[in-house]
Amino acid sequence: MSLTLYFVVAVITLCYLWIKRRYSFWKNRGFLQAEASFPFGSFKGIGTKVTSYEALDVCYKEFKGKAPAIGIYSFFSPNIMPIDPELIKNILGKDFASFQSRGMYYNKKDDPMSANILTLDGQEWKDRRQKFTSMFSSSKMKMMFEILDKIGDKLVNTLGRKITESSEQDMRNWAQRFTADNIGTTAFGIDCCCIEDPNSEFMKYGRRLFDLTTFELIKFFFAVDYPNLARKLGIRFNPKEVADFFYETFIQTFEYREKNKIQRNDFVSMLLELKEQFTRVELAAEAMLVYAAGYETSSTLMTFTLYALALNPEIQQRLRNEITTEIEENDGKLTYEMLFGFKYLDMVINETLRMFPPIADNMRTCNKDYTIPGTNLIIPSGTTVEINTYSLHHDPEYFPEPEKFIPERFSEENIKNIKPSTFLPFGSGPRLCLGMRFGLMQSKMGIAKLITEFSFSACDKTTIPMKFVPSAPFLTPQNGMWLKVEKI
Ligand code: HEM
Ligand SMILES: *[C@@H]1O[C@H](CO)[C@@H](O)[C@H](O)[C@H]1NC(C)=O
Repeated sequence: MSLTLYFVVAVITLCYLWIKRRYSFWKNRGFLQAEASFPFGSFKGIGTKVTSYEALDVCYKEFKGKAPAIGIYSFFSPNIMPIDPELIKNILGKDFASFQSRGMYYNKKDDPMSANILTLDGQEWKDRRQKFTSMFSSSKMKMMFEILDKIGDKLVNTLGRKITESSEQDMRNWAQRFTADNIGTTAFGIDCCCIEDPNSEFMKYGRRLFDLTTFELIKFFFAVDYPNLARKLGIRFNPKEVADFFYETFIQTFEYREKNKIQRNDFVSMLLELKEQFTRVELAAEAMLVYAAGYETSSTLMTFTLYALALNPEIQQRLRNEITTEIEENDGKLTYEMLFGFKYLDMVINETLRMFPPIADNMRTCNKDYTIPGTNLIIPSGTTVEINTYSLHHDPEYFPEPEKFIPERFSEENIKNIKPSTFLPFGSGPRLCLGMRFGLMQSKMGIAKLITEFSFSACDKTTIPMKFVPSAPFLTPQNGMWLKVEKI
């Protein structure tokens, strides 16, 4: 009995000492560090009470102005959070050689669909980024404009019918159905009918990628912190049934087009052109990436734009005037150039991206020891670097009255006063979001179509002030986005 007891006490003591030493990693290296406790480190309450970017924001506020970067702990993994925008600029740009890796998790062996431009690092990333970049050029976007324009009309028509039953609608759900249709058509060559049918298969499998349970979110963070161990354990990035569904859907279209020599202006055809250089599963993985990176982000942007417009009726009316006037002047037709030329729309979208960045925390992994300029602090190779976009965007030094929705921050006169690297909704540097144009095109298209046909206002079910879902990896509103929608 007493021997067992001694043993248990010894094990607990050793664990305690190991954890204590672990949580002094940064202190011992001269860094200021955020408080850490067992088992989530500095991410106390993650997944249940707070999101990752809210946990990081607490650290940011505590240490802002005290150090260019601080040490934090994700589980037992010592990570760095840079605070100074100058340092962030260097990490993302000038000193890219030390921070080429994103350090996202992927598992080529057990889950080949998880290896894509977003997750891959090193030479493999370089090759893919180089070969796939032309898929996102503005001339390619222009070719897909017509497709999205038609889907936008479908959205407006279907929503118009639905509001005769009830004027209160979950606009997050509508925005998702719109972006799912866009991506189903352009990246998978199928009409998935998500706008008409909210329970379509394509939506169902897609939702599984983002509606994580707390356990799945923690598993994800674990895999990011311990990728080698996670790969040994066979931990996947995508649920198997989801990866299989997207693979098979893509391959069916791929083979059909190959056999019937069909060429269309979309992502599938552009991927087909690369078939000599990449395997099928590699191409399918990039099609799925368009879904993974482009569906949730763009629909989130649309969702929060509508939220901000509903709470700010004057801004909504001004935006509507800009868009309707220009469309009327062009005989009722919307063009690619017009969509990207709407000045006020651009300001509203940027202000939404500031307040509600769909990807609120970004990451890099240090791949070469890095001395922080002007200090003798060294970030060791292998360290995960967490850039908390959310904190920068809500810092009153950079954006006075940060909780107020003020599109004028992005007017031509004011935009030059925005400090570099404090506004990073699409990241920056060589790993800047590759799909920015497509993301902006579909979000702006959706907003332009909706705002000319409907007015939006808050209702009883609208969440005010906004709260985010703690277990969601991206910015996600709690309880959907219920708004009152009325035909104009
Ligand atoms: C409003 C919509 C979107 C937002 C806010 C957004 C945001 C971001 C952010 C913050 C990053 C990280 C950038 C960095 O590390 O510096 C990123 C990366 C990426 N995004 Fe987007 N994104 C959006 C839409 C899209 C779309 C539609 C696609 C594809 C069709 C896409 C494809 C990618 C890819 C491939 C990367 C990884 C780039 C690399 O590592 O080389 N994104 N995005
Ligand atoms: C909005 O932000 C994008 C980059 O995120 C930038 O290219 C564009 O110029 C901005 N527009 C305005 C009006 O600030």
